[in-house]
Amino acid sequence: MNTHHDAPGAATLDRAPAQAADSAAAARGPSIGVPRAHESATLHVCGEATYTDDIVELQGTLHAALGLSKHAHARIVSIDLDRVRRAPGVVAVFTAADIPGVNDCGPVLHDDPVLAEGEVLYLGQPVFIVVARTHDLARRAAQLARHDDVVRYEPLEAVLTARDAHARKQYVVPPLHLVRGDPDAKMAEAPYRVSGEFEVGGQEQFYLEGQIAYAVPKEGDSMHVWCSTQHPSEMQHVVAHLLDLPSHAVLVECRRMGGGFGGKESQSALFAGAAALCARHLRRPVKLRADRDDDFMITGKRHDAWYRYEAGFDAEGRLLGARVEIALRAGFSADLSGAVATRALCHFDNAYFLPDVDIWALACRTNTQSNTAFRGFGGPQGALVMEVLLDAIARKLGRDPLDVRRANFYGTQERNVTPYGQTVTDNVIGPLTDELVASSDYATRKAAIDAFNRSSPVLKRGIALTPVKFGISFNVPHLNQAGALVHVYRDGSALVNHGGTEMGQGLNTKVAQVVAAVLGLDLNRVRSTATDTSKIANTSATAASTGSDLNGKAAEAAALTIRMRLAEFAAKQYGCEADEVEFDGGRVFAKTFDVAFATLVEAAYLARVQLWSDGFYATPKVHWDSKTLTGAPFYYFAYAAAVSEVVIDTLTGEWKLVRADALYDAGRSINPAIDIGQVEGAFIQGMGWLTTEELWWNAQGRLMTHAPSTYKIPAISDCPAAFHVRLFDNLNAEPSVYRSKAVGEPPLLLPFSVLLAIRDAIAATSSDPRCVPPLRAPATPEAILDAIDAVAAGRQAVEVAVHPLAGAPLIEGALTSSMETTGR
Ligand code: MTE
Ligand code: MOS
Repeated sequence: MNTHHDAPGAATLDRAPAQAADSAAAARGPSIGVPRAHESATLHVCGEATYTDDIVELQGTLHAALGLSKHAHARIVSIDLDRVRRAPGVVAVFTAADIPGVNDCGPVLHDDPVLAEGEVLYLGQPVFIVVARTHDLARRAAQLARHDDVVRYEPLEAVLTARDAHARKQYVVPPLHLVRGDPDAKMAEAPYRVSGEFEVGGQEQFYLEGQIAYAVPKEGDSMHVWCSTQHPSEMQHVVAHLLDLPSHAVLVECRRMGGGFGGKESQSALFAGAAALCARHLRRPVKLRADRDDDFMITGKRHDAWYRYEAGFDAEGRLLGARVEIALRAGFSADLSGAVATRALCHFDNAYFLPDVDIWALACRTNTQSNTAFRGFGGPQGALVMEVLLDAIARKLGRDPLDVRRANFYGTQERNVTPYGQTVTDNVIGPLTDELVASSDYATRKAAIDAFNRSSPVLKRGIALTPVKFGISFNVPHLNQAGALVHVYRDGSALVNHGGTEMGQGLNTKVAQVVAAVLGLDLNRVRSTATDTSKIANTSATAASTGSDLNGKAAEAAALTIRMRLAEFAAKQYGCEADEVEFDGGRVFAKTFDVAFATLVEAAYLARVQLWSDGFYATPKVHWDSKTLTGAPFYYFAYAAAVSEVVIDTLTGEWKLVRADALYDAGRSINPAIDIGQVEGAFIQGMGWLTTEELWWNAQGRLMTHAPSTYKIPAISDCPAAFHVRLFDNLNAEPSVYRSKAVGEPPLLLPFSVLLAIRDAIAATSSDPRCVPPLRAPATPEAILDAIDAVAAGRQAVEVAVHPLAGAPLIEGALTSSMETTGR
């Protein structure tokens, strides 16, 4: 059944049209489309769920820690590890010279050493690994890295910010440039012009379980690595290259992560590689668990961005031409930055039609941690500037920003082609927004807020509605594939294994639901198991929100194959047609018979019917030309919108999210409980990015905010008292798994509404009704006070001109990129 890619649901087998199949699937009830608890919910709350660090340690297990560089950029003059070797409990110390294979863990380009060689490129870069009897002793010995007699450096000039790197034209991949139409001419003719700059900070993934790997040498030279990773196949590949082994000799396994959020897509590799290297040399199990501070110092984060934008628009605020330059701080190596920049470029439009547009996306090379995937993967960075821009235009025109947004929405029959050439065929942003406006009581509340602000000198309220359109699929077409393995045992229970990884998002629950639905079983008769490179080969990262789309479909295909075999067997046994056989409620039946699933399975086993199957899925339609930056990279789009209301204290800069309403298009949700949880979590996580989470490097390039003491993620007390998250009633226009839509990342963009509600509240401090406060993000209390001061001093975020600004290209001589170098 591997060709069965377009089936909307299990019931289609060969014949039923999509709608009929959909209702048949829905009628099956318990498995699909109803709230079900996360498959590990009980284990999670009882503390019994096994994470990598909980695996019972084998006798002889040793512990590793990393010795880190203390300069942002320096030549390594000498390394003398005697002092480290003599430290209490130390068993061995390794450097780059001890790597038998290739010293690289870069997912795309080979510019990412596991251990620094010759030069350090950021402060925090691992230079050596120390292995000791205990975790604590290893960490103590690793701290010796800061002594000059251990590693001697000759400091070199360090470039720390995207702005500085951009000024020097230092990029990790060539700049990406996409132009449609003639934006300069359109801006020149436009009745109004706006230009401005904006900045948004980065964000630490802050997965609750830090980076960890446990490597156990096996017979021959083979290696078994348990690792907290979103990408077991990539870990296998890196370990094999590092140790100069064939891939078949390396097995990587991950039952679950305590969160990944993109931070374990590529960057778990350094830890897997380092642990495996030690285990190989010592022929003993080695565990490497990064302490939180080390994790912060070593690993990359969400790319912070610096934007310059210009736009021409009409009196309704409709964009006629726009230009933007998105400069991302990539850090010292390419990692996934090329793909992050591509997604930023493909999300500048957000939910809006841009007839004539010029977009640059730059991955700037800096001497900082190598920034990486983080929920949204550049999409949030691309779309945020558009929302900031439209908000500024509305304010300048004295219009409700919501009206300006609506004026720019993608159309359904026209005004529906993205800057990169994909036609938007499934647009529901208009009706979705209308529904949210009504359910959130937007208009009444906006009027009440205006009235409140007129009579409240210190506290000011603000409100904003922002929409989301998010492309689903990996931008790199070949990554859109997945495999699964379903076993039905003689007792009628089923085990499913697939290439995706569980990080709390509920993928294993959804995949089990799909298998249960296809086989007509209760969910408790199906179990998902650890991701394991020896079961499914060549998997993609669980990322780009595609986990359930890809692995759900692969598992569906595997289960359908088994179902078909059972149906054929039953048809022969009981004298009917195979396509008359139904599977539901743990029973298999047709007009002529009705038996328990387990009974049929046992009979089929005795008749030597194969009761397990693999399944494969490749997303149809997607294509992308990395040279021209055009194509149809997304199988479909997910849509959403949110309304946020805040109150700020203009004397202290403190603020509170009073109420948030979000409406999310999950297609026909496989599991509304999990999907609503994902929307809530992403909303609060995105709010943290835009408000409280501030990464701060000092002038030497040392990240000073490297623990929860100085880096503030949202707490339960930051969640709004009124938090209304609902799913929009929709059906994926494409035959995705049960017509559902992805949910992992897109809702991270919903709290743009929080940032712009804060800006709305600050604007209320001005006597100028058309004031645009220059609020940076994260909008910490400090940033809010700065913006209030700027408004009081008459400084604003943007300048509006009726005469065109000079249309010179923003970057002279840059390349229009080839994306052949990017891996996602
Ligand atoms: N939810 C939880 N609880 N923990 C996570 O680490 N990662 C997010 C999102 N939701 C994450 C999460 C990210 S970055 C992605 S890409 C998706 O989940 C990946 O899973 P999916 O494709 O199965 O939705
Ligand atoms: Mo998610 S950033 O695609 O891992």
